[in-house]
Amino acid sequence: TVLVVDFGAQYAQLIARRVRECHVYSEIVPSTMPVGEMLAKRPKAIILSGGPASVYAEGAPAAPEGLFEAGVPVFGICYGHQVMVSELGGTVERTGAAEYGGTPLRIAPEPGHLLAGLGAELNVWMSHGDTSTVAPAGFIVTAQTAATPAATIEDERRGFYGVQFHPEVMHTEHGTKILRRFLEAAGCRPSWTMLNIVEEQTERIREQIGGGRAICGLSGGVDSAVAAALVQRAIGDRLTCVFVDHGLLRKGEAEQVEQDFVAATGVNLHVVDASQEFLAALEGVTDPEDKRKIIGREFIRAFERAAREITADAGAHGESTEFLVQGTLYPDVVESGGGTGTANIKSHHNVGGLPDDLKFQLVEPLRWLFKDEVRKVGEELGLPSEIVWRQPFPGPGLGIRIIGEVTAQRLAILREADAIARAELTAGGVDQTVWQCPVVLLADVRSVGVQGDGRTYGHPVVLRPVTSEDAMTADWARLPYDLLARISTRITNEVREINRVVLDVTSKPPGTIEWE
Ligand code: XMP
Repeated sequence: TVLVVDFGAQYAQLIARRVRECHVYSEIVPSTMPVGEMLAKRPKAIILSGGPASVYAEGAPAAPEGLFEAGVPVFGICYGHQVMVSELGGTVERTGAAEYGGTPLRIAPEPGHLLAGLGAELNVWMSHGDTSTVAPAGFIVTAQTAATPAATIEDERRGFYGVQFHPEVMHTEHGTKILRRFLEAAGCRPSWTMLNIVEEQTERIREQIGGGRAICGLSGGVDSAVAAALVQRAIGDRLTCVFVDHGLLRKGEAEQVEQDFVAATGVNLHVVDASQEFLAALEGVTDPEDKRKIIGREFIRAFERAAREITADAGAHGESTEFLVQGTLYPDVVESGGGTGTANIKSHHNVGGLPDDLKFQLVEPLRWLFKDEVRKVGEELGLPSEIVWRQPFPGPGLGIRIIGEVTAQRLAILREADAIARAELTAGGVDQTVWQCPVVLLADVRSVGVQGDGRTYGHPVVLRPVTSEDAMTADWARLPYDLLARISTRITNEVREINRVVLDVTSKPPGTIEWE
């Protein structure tokens, strides 16, 4: 295990992903975690992430006490580098020479371990206001930039390395190589492979569930499908998958789950139609967090009902269903404030929205995985590519894509518009490049239009096509204009209530992918 100590912002997640891409397991921990707790995880190495603070500002997060005496190799990145420099007796100053973006790094004649053989100059990505000017005793300086005298430092004997730049971002030349060299120097073996993940998770699931029975909610998305396939691998037909039709699904979704997934896995499937209950519970509700919590709660109620029915069916064997499998991913855990103590941005229905009186124990085999890893696990498990490469769709479904109250009529409108957009995106050949494209109905907004000879007073829908690597950050997708035009024309022609189609051109941050 490599621990990535989170000093804030989103740097830590990217670093953790990059470490895993080097086939080394990594986990994010808050910078407030005591060293004893970190060491209990038996880390082979610790990486100090970047962060927004200034090391000498009041209340700036410091390295956990005793970290540099723990005998574990440490790699400081950006803010982490400055923390290392200042705590080990070097100097960090505000020289007034900030560096942002691509910056030439001049490698010293003695390039040390990290930069050996990479030439005389690298283009690296910088983002800092403070500057490390003097390396601590015991370190050699292996590179500098125009504004940063101690830009890259090493103390091979203690296994301490620091870089002012961000090796984890794509724009840094040889960034991954530099990270990999640190991992090698720290003695991390590249053993985090998909096969190992599958084996390890299967074993863990068997241990947790023992001889019990589990149910798994299928959403149609890749996460729940892979979670279910993993659990099926572990406990066979003591798993029953439950598909809750909450009435917030997209067109054709229920049929797809029922056919594709069952055909691929042969899993036991139990379908619950709870659309009336969901709609009734959502009546009059407009606040996004309220919606998410209500949907989360209704989901669990539906599961509980399904579980009782399944248990009654299996009654002859006298086993009860006490485990609930969820396809919670690492970013969900982190974004719901569960991983690192970061702010609660949204209550993902499968993490933050669970009721207090939950009657199940949760099984979350993907809790430590990023989306791209989940897809690889899915492939390893032999799931068909239509399932593995499906675009993400949130558990709360169209319920969080209607801005305003959710009603049956509004759902029907959005379902049609969404189906048209999806069909055209697929026909336009952009399914592989677009991460997902929510279609959002602004149900309380109306605008004047003209169609045929008459005035219309209809609703707008928003297209939100994004590109992303892991949904933690995203950019708006630059779709071809003629594709956008086709979507717009078809939606306004074919969906009577919609007279305007608008495009969301916001990245994440500051926007999130979904509107609620
Ligand atoms: P945001 O809107 O937070 O979305 O940028 C990030 C990704 O997560 C999906 N999403 C959810 N998935 N339950 C889920 O299973 C949820 O409650 C939920 N909310 C958002 C969203 O579609 C995007 O892929």
